[in-house]
Amino acid sequence: MNFADSEIVASILNDNGFGATRNFEEADLVLINTCSIREKAEQNVRQRLALFRQEKRSRPGMLIGVLGCMAERLKSKLLEEEKLVDLVIGPDAYRSLPELIREAGTGQKAVNVMLSREETYADISPVRLDSNGVTAFVSITRGCNNMCSFCVVPFTRGRERSRDAGSIVRECRDLFQQGFREVTLLGQNVDSYYWVDETPSPESSGGQAAVVTFAKLLEQVALIDPSLRVRFSTSHPKDITDEVLYTMARHENICKYIHLPLQSGSSRVLQLMNRTYTREWYLAKVDRILEILPDCGLSADIIAGFCTETEEDHQETLSLMRLARYDMSYMFFYSERPGTLAARRYRDDVPEDVKKRRLDEIVRQQNKLSLESNRKDLGKTFTVLIEGDSKKSSDDWRGRNSQNKVVVFPKAGRSLQKGDYVRVHVKDCTGATLLGDII
Ligand code: 5AD
Ligand code: SF4
Repeated sequence: MNFADSEIVASILNDNGFGATRNFEEADLVLINTCSIREKAEQNVRQRLALFRQEKRSRPGMLIGVLGCMAERLKSKLLEEEKLVDLVIGPDAYRSLPELIREAGTGQKAVNVMLSREETYADISPVRLDSNGVTAFVSITRGCNNMCSFCVVPFTRGRERSRDAGSIVRECRDLFQQGFREVTLLGQNVDSYYWVDETPSPESSGGQAAVVTFAKLLEQVALIDPSLRVRFSTSHPKDITDEVLYTMARHENICKYIHLPLQSGSSRVLQLMNRTYTREWYLAKVDRILEILPDCGLSADIIAGFCTETEEDHQETLSLMRLARYDMSYMFFYSERPGTLAARRYRDDVPEDVKKRRLDEIVRQQNKLSLESNRKDLGKTFTVLIEGDSKKSSDDWRGRNSQNKVVVFPKAGRSLQKGDYVRVHVKDCTGATLLGDII
C-alpha cells in the first residue's frame, strides 16, 4: 500500500515540476514514506532519518519530509523528536504537498495530517517507480473500518472508502496498453469494496445506477483482456463472499491465490483481537474456498504472542496452520501499538523471549508446509508470467504461476521476454521456489 502511495506522491510532484533522483546526496528534498504497523517498522524509519540528518548537516538547505502512517500517528510530535524534519504529511494529505514544500522552503515547519472521508486519489495517474514493466499495484480502497484490537491502521489511515470503479478499470486498461500483464488490486480489506456507479453504460444496467461490489469490480478488470492477470490483496475472512470465489472460478486470468490473514488459531485470542470469526468459522471458509477453487493457493498473516496467549492457544495456531496447509505465511510477533484497543484494554503480558520462541516455531512449521506444498507440484506444468531475470543468474527467468509461487527456469536460448507467458514443467523445488523447464 505504501509502495502504491509513493507512486501517487511521485505523480503529484512530477505534475508540479519536481524531478526524481535515486541518489539522496543530490536531492533538494527527501521524502520518506513510513509504516507504523509494528515498532520495528518505526525503528527502521528512525534509522533512515538519522542518515538523512547527517546529510543535512553538510547541506542545510535540503528539506526532509515524513509521509504516511508514522506522520499521522505522531503528528507534530515528530517535529519535536526529529529536529531536522521539515514536513509531516499524513496519507490523505498528499495533494497539499507542493504547497507545503513551498512553505517549508521559507524556513517554516509544515504539517498536514488531516484525515479525509473521501480522498482516494482516483484521478491521479501514478508514476510507476522501480517498475519491472510487467506487474503493478492499483489501489481500490483506502483506510479500514475494522477494529482489530492490535492494529494501528484504522487510526493512521482513517475510515474506509472505495475508489471510483471507472477510474480503477481505466487505470488497469492503461497499464495493459503500456505492456503490463498483471495488476494487483489493493486495499486493507478489498472484499468490502462498494461503489455506486451513477452513470453506468446502457448495456450493463439499462442506464440505472449500478452497485459495483468487489466481485463485480474483479470481473470488470478481468474482462479488460484475457492476457491481463488479476490479483488482489488483502481479504478479511469475514468478508470474502461466494460471489468473489465464483467470479475467480469463471475467469482464468483471475489468479487462484488468496491471502487470508488468520492472526491466531485460538478462538479465545481471536475474540480478544476482535477478528469477528472463530477457529471453526475460519476453517469452514478455507473449505469453501477449496470446494469452489480446488487449486487455489492460500497464505496467511499470523501474530505470535498476543496479549494473554497461552501455550495451548499457540498450539492451536500451529494445528490450524497444518489444517489450512498454507503455501506461505507472513509471520510476526505481537508489537503493542500506542492508542490501539489492545494497548488500552490488555496487558502486553507474553514475555519477549516467549513471543520469539513461539514465532520461531510458527516459522519452522510454515517452512515445512511450504516445502510440502512445493513438493506436491513436482511433475506439474504451470503457466508462468515472466517478470525478469532470476535473482541468482541472468541465464534463468523468474516468474510466478497463478497460485503466486515463484518459478525459476533456464532461458534455454529461446527468444522470450519479460511479460511473456510460458508453460513450465516443474522438476525440482526448494521451500520458496519451484524449478523447472519450458515445454
Ligand atoms: N503486532 C504484530 N503484527 C501486527 N500486524 C498488524 N498489527 C500488528 C501488531 N501490532 C500484522 C497483522 C496484519 C499484518 C499486515 O501485520 O498480521 O495482518
Ligand atoms: Fe488492521 Fe484489521 Fe483493518 Fe487489517 S482488517 S488493516 S488488521 S484493522
